Amino acid sequence: VERLRVELADRSYDIAIGTGTLDALGDAVRGLSPSPRLALVSNPTVHALYGPRVRDSLTRAGFAVHEVTVPDGEQYKTLLWTEKMLTELLRSRLDRRSVLVALGGGVIGDMAGFAAALYMRGIRFVQVPTTLLAQVDSSVGGKTGVNHPLGKNMIGAFWQPSLVWVDLETLRSLPPRQFRAGMAEVIKYGVIRDEAFFRFLGEHEKDVSALEPEALAHLVRRSCEIKAEVVSRDEREAGLRAILNYGHTIGHAVETATGYGAYLHGEAVAIGMCAEARLAEAVKVAAEKVHERVRRLVELYGLPAEVPEGLEAAALLEAMHLDKKALSGEMRFILPVRVGTVRVNEPVPAEAVQALLSTGSRPPSP
Ligand code: NAD
Ligand code: GLY
Repeated sequence: VERLRVELADRSYDIAIGTGTLDALGDAVRGLSPSPRLALVSNPTVHALYGPRVRDSLTRAGFAVHEVTVPDGEQYKTLLWTEKMLTELLRSRLDRRSVLVALGGGVIGDMAGFAAALYMRGIRFVQVPTTLLAQVDSSVGGKTGVNHPLGKNMIGAFWQPSLVWVDLETLRSLPPRQFRAGMAEVIKYGVIRDEAFFRFLGEHEKDVSALEPEALAHLVRRSCEIKAEVVSRDEREAGLRAILNYGHTIGHAVETATGYGAYLHGEAVAIGMCAEARLAEAVKVAAEKVHERVRRLVELYGLPAEVPEGLEAAALLEAMHLDKKALSGEMRFILPVRVGTVRVNEPVPAEAVQALLSTGSRPPSP
């Protein structure tokens, strides 16, 4: 097991990355010296695959394990299901020294982390991420929360985990489309922070897609290092942390305008990264042909690179709260200067955004 550290003063914690390490989780959790009562939160899909192994490991380490399951799906990431979870925690008599273990993807991690933040004004929790997206992104950094009918991730808390336990072997059961979606966030790290990593991803696509252990370990480690560094320097997104949202402004608009469900989050982010790279060139922030490089890597990993045909610019602009009235104003974007470096808060004239979205993100025909 390789350990990285997220430095946050008294809220610092380790990210432990290994292969086949679920059986050792119990001992690691005992290392946090919690009370013997503990909750294991998961969904039926992940529980069927890994629940018994995790439970046994925790039981062997001396814990009385109370299992809580939430149905599988983003539509259950709600206050209602958080409350049901809290009810279970109360029924199980978890105390203030209890630990909550979140076993699953970003949905389980976000919601269980939020429940941990709320229960008795905050108990510790451990992330055991089982999707690529959760291993490289959502389990690290302490953004927890749920969706509200009026907006995604609008209700939540900053609440850091006490440990992130990554077992790379869990990625073997992940549907390929989910794996590819996670790759969008990995590519994002290359664009925002590390050109050499971006090149590595281009050179090792075959190994990565075959889940070759060394390539996978490098990819998850480097992604977590970058996220940990950014979060350590700006936990609450006063500035720097916003770079993690590269590709998300237009990506989020694509998700909203297509009604959620057509695209996985990572797929929409892939489209957004390409579109925003093109925008960076249009407004001359990008000093090189950054769009071409981003698009090529996105496509190499089988991710969509273009705003879907038939999706009207007006619908996207509306999703970005940029209607006709606002078109004289400007918008702020995270734009790449080149692969490896982005600028946050770059003002872009609304017309430039409209022009980009009207022509789609496709290159002009020759
Ligand atoms: P998810 O949690 O819905 O998991 C995707 C699917 O894979 C689910 O059906 C799940 O049951 C299944 N699954 C999970 N692990 C598996 C495995 N090992 N084998 C087989 N199937 C498995 O989706 P996700 O992409 O992991 O996370 C998306 C969520 O993360 C969104 O709600 C998003 O808002 C959130 N998010 C949070 C942050 C953050 O910083 N907190 C960052 C990015 C995304
Ligand atoms: N996913 C963006 C962040 O953690 O800040």
